[in-house]
Amino acid sequence: MKKVPASIGIFGASGHIGGPMARWLRYHAPNIKLRLISSSEDKTAQLRAAFPDCEVALGDYNDLPSLTAAVAQMEGLFVITPGGTDEQAAMTHLISAIRSSNRLVHMIRALSAYPSPIPRRIPVELTKFGWGLEVQHPIAWRLLHDSGLPITYLNLGASFMDNFYRFPMLSPGKFTWPNRRVPFLDPRDIGEAAARLLLSDNARHIDQFHTLNNGNDNLYVADVAKMMSEVLLLDFEYDSSKEGFLAIMEPAVKFGFVKPEFPEFLWHFFRYEDANDVAWSLNDTLERILGRKPTTVRAWLQEHRHDLSKMLGKRVDVSTASH
Ligand SMILES: NC(=O)c1ccc[n+]([C@@H]2O[C@H](COP(=O)([O-])OP(=O)(O)OC[C@H]3O[C@@H](n4cnc5c(N)ncnc54)[C@H](OP(=O)(O)O)[C@@H]3O)[C@@H](O)[C@H]2O)c1
Repeated sequence: MKKVPASIGIFGASGHIGGPMARWLRYHAPNIKLRLISSSEDKTAQLRAAFPDCEVALGDYNDLPSLTAAVAQMEGLFVITPGGTDEQAAMTHLISAIRSSNRLVHMIRALSAYPSPIPRRIPVELTKFGWGLEVQHPIAWRLLHDSGLPITYLNLGASFMDNFYRFPMLSPGKFTWPNRRVPFLDPRDIGEAAARLLLSDNARHIDQFHTLNNGNDNLYVADVAKMMSEVLLLDFEYDSSKEGFLAIMEPAVKFGFVKPEFPEFLWHFFRYEDANDVAWSLNDTLERILGRKPTTVRAWLQEHRHDLSKMLGKRVDVSTASH
């Protein structure tokens, strides 16, 4: 048996995984003290407004004093880092902050080993940048493993469904994204899974590396485009070319949202996923943690059909569409 943490600190609580986790805990376990953590002053203000009955703290992986205050007295923690994080510094700070507090009962760390973790299969085009999943996550994993802290690793071994919003892949009449076959995950399901694991009294989850996907969809992007067209009753072009991909990423580079080398890096990442697609397998881990079927891609598309339709424009005449 493991103790159920009486308090939980959530990093990235304003984000698409930590946010749903906080809302789920607020509703299902109102007795648990929550501390919502963000590295941004603006987002802490938004969190205070959205969760008036929760503690909110500023906590930056690059700043040990803020991190020490953010995790102080917390028995449970959810830890997620963005792509590009210097995990050596971030996890060294985090381990030190947790040791200062000395109250940790259970921590969840989101990682991604994706899809074949055998180092010689990882192309130099990915490792030469010095960041990204294949570089940063093994560093985090080694440091956390060696710390001996009570951790469950959630391996996000799938593509997030809300990438359709977060990347500029949908435009009027066109869906532009490199083709490859991958499993899928709704980020809200990840947040709920992390919450359920922290609330579980099953000690066997400690020191586990749970690979998560929705157990249903191992799809080519071209298949998703076809499904989207069926669900939205929209006709659009699907462009999987490198030129098309680099063109849609151009504004993000121009306005400084991503590093100039990021689009080329991401292209190689997709080719790496494609070259290893035989390693993906759907599983029921997430279903067992949630105690229900995870969200399917089709259900997600149906739920978001109005917003997606607006992004893709160009409605088909339903009376002439074939059924
Ligand atoms: N996109 C996909 O399909 C996919 C699939 C599988 C795995 N992944 C990987 O999963 C990981 C998470 O991805 P994501 O898109 O969820 O990341 P994200 O939203 O960019 O970042 C996660 C959270 O980290 C927090 N954060 C950022 N900088 C911080 C700092 N210095 N100190 C403390 N917290 C900080 C952010 O909250 P604040 O800004 O409020 O601090 C944010 O909510 C990444 O490694 C990604 O590559 C992505």
